[in-house]
Amino acid sequence: MERTYIMTKPDAYQRGLIGKIITRIENKGFKITDMKMMALNEAILTEHYAHLADKPFFPEILEYMTSGPVVGMIVEGNGVVESMRKMMGPTDGLEAAPGTIRGDYANNKSENLIHGSDSLENAEIEIKRFFG
Ligand code: CDP
Ligand code: MG
Repeated sequence: MERTYIMTKPDAYQRGLIGKIITRIENKGFKITDMKMMALNEAILTEHYAHLADKPFFPEILEYMTSGPVVGMIVEGNGVVESMRKMMGPTDGLEAAPGTIRGDYANNKSENLIHGSDSLENAEIEIKRFFG
């Protein structure tokens, strides 16, 4: 079965939106097969966001992603990688359509509530990274 790595970000925890996000995943019919709350450190974040490590805003990403707990999940289902990206909406909450998670709850492109793997290949890498 296809699977992806989903992670609620610290703003979802602070705003009390973890339950709403999980409900959307379950309503879609996808199965959460593993889940854990974690405090991420700089080392794992630098690996996870390696494609952004040379950007001027990378220190702000680190500050944001270490500001509170995240909830990592393995989510399974048909076409789940692409479907979860659609349900999340694009990075910038102002550009994300209403009805998407970011479109309904985020209004900028950094604090955007949720991470989801962007390909089958990265899904497996990220599941290994966070669940071993
Ligand atoms: O999360 P997504 O795959 O949509 O976007 P990304 O380009 O892989 O960037 C990862 C995360 O870095 C975003 O979700 C934002 O939290 C953050 N980011 C940011 O703060 N400012 C940007 N210009 C781009 C990304
Ligand atoms: Mg990404």
